[in-house]
Amino acid sequence: MPTTVPAPTALDLTSIRAQFPSLAQTVDGHPAAFLDGPGGTQVPQRVIDAISNYLRHDNANTGGAYATSRRTDAMIAEARGAMADFLHCVADEVAFGPNMTTLTYAMSRAIGRELKPGDEIVVTRLDHDANVSPWLQMAQDRGITVRWAEIHDQDCTLDMADLASKINPNTKLVAAGYASNAVGTINPVKEIVALAHKVGALAYIDAVHYSPHGLIDVAALDCDFLACSTYKFFGPHMGVLFGKREHLKRFRPYKVRPNTNAIPNCWEWGTLNHECIAGIAACVEYFANLGRELTKMRVPHPFDRLRAGSSVLSKGGNDAAGTSGVTERRAAIEAAYEAIHEHERALLERMMSGLNKIPGLKIYGITDPARFHERCATLAIRIPGHTPLELATQLGERGFFTWDGNYYALNLTEHLDVEKSGGFLRIGLVHYNTTEEVDRLLAAMREIVGE
Ligand SMILES: Cc1ncc(COP(=O)(O)O)c(C=O)c1O
Repeated sequence: MPTTVPAPTALDLTSIRAQFPSLAQTVDGHPAAFLDGPGGTQVPQRVIDAISNYLRHDNANTGGAYATSRRTDAMIAEARGAMADFLHCVADEVAFGPNMTTLTYAMSRAIGRELKPGDEIVVTRLDHDANVSPWLQMAQDRGITVRWAEIHDQDCTLDMADLASKINPNTKLVAAGYASNAVGTINPVKEIVALAHKVGALAYIDAVHYSPHGLIDVAALDCDFLACSTYKFFGPHMGVLFGKREHLKRFRPYKVRPNTNAIPNCWEWGTLNHECIAGIAACVEYFANLGRELTKMRVPHPFDRLRAGSSVLSKGGNDAAGTSGVTERRAAIEAAYEAIHEHERALLERMMSGLNKIPGLKIYGITDPARFHERCATLAIRIPGHTPLELATQLGERGFFTWDGNYYALNLTEHLDVEKSGGFLRIGLVHYNTTEEVDRLLAAMREIVGE
């Protein structure tokens, strides 16, 4: 073990992993190692229970004058409050949808309604296509100009000087990712938002990849919109969109006539996946409980507020926010992320140092440990003589779940000229992964490359 690896972290991995039933699986006698978090994470038992309990007891449409429908309304309000704490905003700034892509398409149409030829938008070469194509297609429909922010090829970071040069008084929107789902780079989002705001443009942030790794604070970022997907941070397959209240009120959604004009409902189409929304509240509680255990905070029952009939939210979170603007739940979530960050950092250092010893292996993105605060523990690699698919298949047979290809970060794989030869092998580490899994993966890789 290299000396640079920090001491074990505060996370109790045994207790954490025991909460995720799927982690105990085996593949042909090999323990399964879920290194596919960037594609979707596993869920703790409390999320599974919340989903099945909703279906068992409360399953109904919204707005009805009867018990299960009222409980469904209350549950959705609770989930919004939970997400408001998770993102650090107000509950009516949180809209639910099937996934980030759908929400982004919808918002791009509404924003596009107000744009005209001569207006410009900025997208980046590093982003997942879900934060690119909706904007390109909207731009095509509206006859507006698209400018691309490029990357530094050697470390796959955004070229901030280039980004700044693409923003001008005609810019109406800057769409950027919080972190790259391919190479793990974390972008300086606050700086990007400030650059957009300097010319009066909107900042639309894709936080899908960042969300399992780092605390999101939309108030501090001052972004106009931020989209994420709960299935990437230990919740169900759903998308969540934060929009500043002023924008959600002012932009006009395409929607059916009977749908209310009230925010955030006017940004939600048709009947939502209620059972998954029940799972979202439980997923936020998973983070909060982790934080509470770490800091030995008071542990209120997740539905205390619901039982008390309170759904009034104050700025910065919910009714318990107090003057600091941080609720007890938000503070617990912050504590959880601190420990998650520390654990992932240790895993990253161990993984990086092991991968570096495999002859010919190339790691894309930031590799200098002194700059690890600029990246997540998501590694894109290539090994000469082995396609990413071959590697993923051989690892899969040994119980390691990795991914190959472009993961929809298509503009990046094309730009780096790896698209035609299979993209990258992606190894994604999240907080439920262990140092033992890292060591086993490294041994399996060495075996596959014939070391
Ligand atoms: C960075 C990033 N953005 C957007 C998406 C699309 O999210 P969704 O599947 O919720 O539409 C993904 C999915 O992998 C992603 O990794």
